[in-house]
Amino acid sequence: MRRGPFRVGDRVQLTDSRGRMHTIALEAGKQFHTHRGHIKHDDLIGMPDGTVITHSSGAEYLALRPLLSDYVLSMPRGAQVVYPKDAGQIVTMADIFPGARVVEAGVGSGALSLSLLRAVGDGGQLFSFERREDFAEIARANARIFFGEDHPAWTVTVGDLVEALPQTVQPGSIDRVVLDMLAPWECLDAVGEALAPGGVLICYVATATQLSRVAETARDKGGWTEPQAWESMVRDWHLEGLSVRPEHRMHGHTGFLITTRKLAPGTTAPLRRTRPAPGAYGEDYTPPNDEVWTAEDLGERQISDKRVRRTARGLAAQVERDDRIPDEDGPGAAD
Ligand SMILES: C[S@@+](CC[C@H](N)C(=O)[O-])C[C@H]1O[C@@H](n2cnc3c(N)ncnc32)[C@H](O)[C@@H]1O
Repeated sequence: MRRGPFRVGDRVQLTDSRGRMHTIALEAGKQFHTHRGHIKHDDLIGMPDGTVITHSSGAEYLALRPLLSDYVLSMPRGAQVVYPKDAGQIVTMADIFPGARVVEAGVGSGALSLSLLRAVGDGGQLFSFERREDFAEIARANARIFFGEDHPAWTVTVGDLVEALPQTVQPGSIDRVVLDMLAPWECLDAVGEALAPGGVLICYVATATQLSRVAETARDKGGWTEPQAWESMVRDWHLEGLSVRPEHRMHGHTGFLITTRKLAPGTTAPLRRTRPAPGAYGEDYTPPNDEVWTAEDLGERQISDKRVRRTARGLAAQVERDDRIPDEDGPGAAD
């Protein structure tokens, strides 16, 4: 329900004059309280999107339905999320199309899943895999709150991708695979089996060491096109009168992306036209092997189990509250 006047059950983002944001779910008769007073939900219900509402203190708030990018940055997290700038790159560069059959792992907090579900649409299929039951639960709740119901294209399987994938999808039946996990190179055989010839694999990794391991493992195993890697940097701009310039602060690093495509069975890619630089595979080079990589090795911040449990409890309560709000337009109402 993303069009038309605000309805009961809609999520509305309120922004004050200082740019501070609060998101509320509209309920008849309810009030949104701040330390200075309140806003009545009833004053918003029936108003058009993009309305200015006056708080009981006289302060004005801009009311808008949150965009996917707003929601992702404010939603409760288990694991670190893929930022909108990278989700946009993933959808475009992995060529996620309406109706596509896509595999994703891990699910984490479900941020990237939301963009993938939007891109495949109701007629596509997103098979997502997550090792941790508690993270999968958080992701399901985040998606349910965002879409207002369980998305018809989404299946979440709890388990390790390598073990669970062959039990979930037919060999050669998948169009695209998106991996956001610590050791994607460990999954290359499994995703290669699931992907249709010509299918795209995209991996999002945090460090250059992971990036290199994905590329070298794909080359070593064969059956994949020459990998391509990049990162994207987004610099916001300050726009005020004559003061038009880049912002002083920016997110310096989120992650790297690497893509490769599955070749037809028995095909060997033509030799690379450019030879590896002298020394690229010299004495110091370590070929892919069975080392165990940990999140600590890569300097990733770990979230405590206590915090994950608190997040999951908060989301479960939110989903329950949303479910209790009657849908004014009844079942089957148009989006
Ligand atoms: C950084 S998080 C993913 C974040 C997610 N893309 C998002 O935008 O919210 C990485 C997740 O991968 C999961 N994971 C790591 N290896 C996995 C595997 N082999 N199979 C399934 N899940 C895995 C971890 O439990 C973790 O939740």
